[in-house]
Amino acid sequence: MRCIIGNKVLYVAVLFCLSKIACAENMALKKVFIANPSVPRVAYNIFENFVEVITSSGYDRESIIKGLSGANVDALFWAGGVKLDKEILDTAGPQVKVVGTMSAGYNHIDTALLKAKGIVLGNTPRVLDDAVADVALLLAMSASRRYTEGRRHIEEGTWINFFNTQWMLGQDISGSTVGIVGLGNIGQAIAKRLKGFGVAKILYTGHREKPEGKELGAQFVNQDTLNRESDFIFLAAPLTNETNQMCNADFFSKMKKTGIIVNISRGQLIDQAALIKALKDGEIFAAGLDVMDPEPLNRDSELLKLSNVVLTPHIGSATNNTRNAMAELTAKNILRGLGGEEMFTPVKL
Ligand SMILES: *[C@@H]1O[C@H](CO)[C@@H](O)[C@H](O)[C@H]1NC(C)=O
Ligand SMILES: *[C@@H]1O[C@H](CO)[C@@H](O)[C@H](O)[C@H]1NC(C)=O
Ligand SMILES: *[C@@H]1O[C@H](CO)[C@@H](O)[C@H](O)[C@H]1NC(C)=O
Repeated sequence: MRCIIGNKVLYVAVLFCLSKIACAENMALKKVFIANPSVPRVAYNIFENFVEVITSSGYDRESIIKGLSGANVDALFWAGGVKLDKEILDTAGPQVKVVGTMSAGYNHIDTALLKAKGIVLGNTPRVLDDAVADVALLLAMSASRRYTEGRRHIEEGTWINFFNTQWMLGQDISGSTVGIVGLGNIGQAIAKRLKGFGVAKILYTGHREKPEGKELGAQFVNQDTLNRESDFIFLAAPLTNETNQMCNADFFSKMKKTGIIVNISRGQLIDQAALIKALKDGEIFAAGLDVMDPEPLNRDSELLKLSNVVLTPHIGSATNNTRNAMAELTAKNILRGLGGEEMFTPVKL
């Protein structure tokens, strides 16, 4: 796991800002609301003695609203998919000045409203890059080797023995051309792993060519070229107005028939109906999705019926170490915000 800041520097810096909060005489402890009861203990350990913590009884919207009513907190520790919007902030009250979200993405947070209210926001980029990139490769490997279909054959007793040499043929990652949509931190972590698999070429799209792309030997191309040439396409771009529904019918029609799409960013990047059609019509080979729309996915979703789809339930960052690192960074961001210091990983509003 790469660290953003050396641990020692981080520790000393945090102690410094903590002393500023705690040493202010006659000042009642500031209050932090943790909007999810399953946040790792490490966050509580960091807050201990420095702030008063109030934890929501549940991670659903009603519990959060109920917990915030009259609680008069100074900061919100956001964790989970509930939208942080006007209703939430109005319930929390005007004294809220700091928000830390235990996530890299912040499309569920009304950033314009935060900015208007003078609230600072921090997120947790980078500490989850490796875990998410691992899931991207997990999905690419299982989609290309037809994991879902194979498992079903075993369960249903339709496993043809391997003396049939053409049984369950998949696609190779080695020697393939790979396209990465969005060569940010996670996109780069995916590219590094792919180099170990011996891919022939790495292409990427984004706003601009990046020096990191050159270092990785990746080639900056336009979207059409990436779709046309890639055997694997990894979606690693954040959800913005620009990327919302970018993977539509036209997008899939430009992909190779043997192409595989892997989504580890945000579900709304994909027009799911168009994806399902492309998978059914054999317009593409397979898809691996860690993110869907909606989440949780309905049990009767067509995606669950298709054997050329591999699904994981948004577990990109779900390892013990990574979640601990995210909780720790969120807590430290909040303490810094409360102390009037710049957060370690602020979101520019
Ligand atoms: C995104 O789109 C929404 C709705 O169309 C609009 O209100 C908002 O200002 C847009 N945001 C940006 C950053 O362009
Ligand atoms: C990619 O995942 C995001 C996050 O859940 C989702 O909103 C989007 O629809 C997905 N796109 C595709 C093509 O699966
Ligand atoms: C998860 O991490 C915490 C904090 O380091 C540790 O106490 C706990 O034992 C870990 N749990 C597992 C299942 O690894």
